[in-house]
Amino acid sequence: MKFAKRLEWCDSSDVGDILKALSDPEILSLAGGLPAPELFPVEEVKTATALVLDREGDKALQYSSAQGDPRLREMVARRMTDKYGTPAKAEEVLITNGSQQALDMAGKVFLEEGSVVLCESPTYLGALGAFRTYGAEFVEVETDSDGMIIEDLERKLKEIDDVRLVYVNPDFQNPTGIDWSVERRKAFAEVVGRYGVAAIEDNPYGELRFEGPCPPSIKSFDRDGVVISLGSFSKIFSPGMRVAWMIAAPEILSKFGDMKQNAILCSSTLHQAQIVAYNEMFDLDAHVERICKVYKKRMSVLIDSVREFFPKEAVVVPPAGGLFAWVELPEGVNARDVFKVAVEEHKVAFVPGGAFFAEPGHENYMRLNFSNVPEDRLKEGIRRLGAVLSQSM
Ligand SMILES: Cc1ncc(COP(=O)(O)O)c(C=O)c1O
Repeated sequence: MKFAKRLEWCDSSDVGDILKALSDPEILSLAGGLPAPELFPVEEVKTATALVLDREGDKALQYSSAQGDPRLREMVARRMTDKYGTPAKAEEVLITNGSQQALDMAGKVFLEEGSVVLCESPTYLGALGAFRTYGAEFVEVETDSDGMIIEDLERKLKEIDDVRLVYVNPDFQNPTGIDWSVERRKAFAEVVGRYGVAAIEDNPYGELRFEGPCPPSIKSFDRDGVVISLGSFSKIFSPGMRVAWMIAAPEILSKFGDMKQNAILCSSTLHQAQIVAYNEMFDLDAHVERICKVYKKRMSVLIDSVREFFPKEAVVVPPAGGLFAWVELPEGVNARDVFKVAVEEHKVAFVPGGAFFAEPGHENYMRLNFSNVPEDRLKEGIRRLGAVLSQSM
């Protein structure tokens, strides 16, 4: 049997160990990126589903348009305009099956073998996988605690031929938790606009902000129509429904719409209608506030525990939102080795940070998840990891 060439880069061993660890019920896992299931609005979804089926009957179970339920597109446009100052209209919104599908489609729409994608250092592992499938070569742009360093971005845009995409995750980035400053967002939009290169602003975590309002999106500063804004219901409602959205200029949106039609025809009619009905009957913003309260508390427990149990050379910055904390270990400590001992001898898992870099090296980092673990288990997990680190450092 002959498989496609595009699979050749694919090495599942990297995440394979992690997935294996996650499937062992004895392992205390700080590795995943899952929302807290006890916060899913199960009863409310039951009520909303009854309304959908009473009101829409068989239509709720039928195929629907590739662009998405017009009521959901309207709802997304309104929320994005109000929350992020992204002045979107319903016709500028395309519903996708998770943001992950939008990343896959971006590969189809923009990339050829050898096309360059500029990304943060580190970046979201799932974007690396999605774009590599379409032949992407990644170049990391220097990044600090305010986001991408704009001078380095501009230098790379100037020097490198065939940059097709710039991919960023500016609100509580996965994996670092970094939240870009407003100045960087603005400068980034200006630079990618001037170079006429497509940029993806991937934002599944922005609403999980522990204090204060959301800052303006990069898209809100996009005067040239090059920024593609991605958002998702996965972390604020339900990842299992696989409902997300993108907002982009009409010529970009229509290409993604064609790709979506070819790939899956349409998103789940029922799940889109459930979200619309939930939003009519209940208060989504109040639900998000409840999630933020729980995650903020878990984040504090995690950070306090790291400070109590990790060797003092380990550096962690408390994130202001999202699901993850990022720990920098002294150079020379290899987090993949730490992972093996942690899983095998102490039954605790995390994600070794090297997996999130497009370029090799960078093995002295750990990504810790706090959303999916109750407070007492978080403390216990960090205590165990502290013991492993004290042994290995
Ligand atoms: C940065 C980032 N983008 C996209 C996704 C995919 O999310 P979705 O569930 O909407 O496909 C994730 C999932 O964890 C993520 O962390």
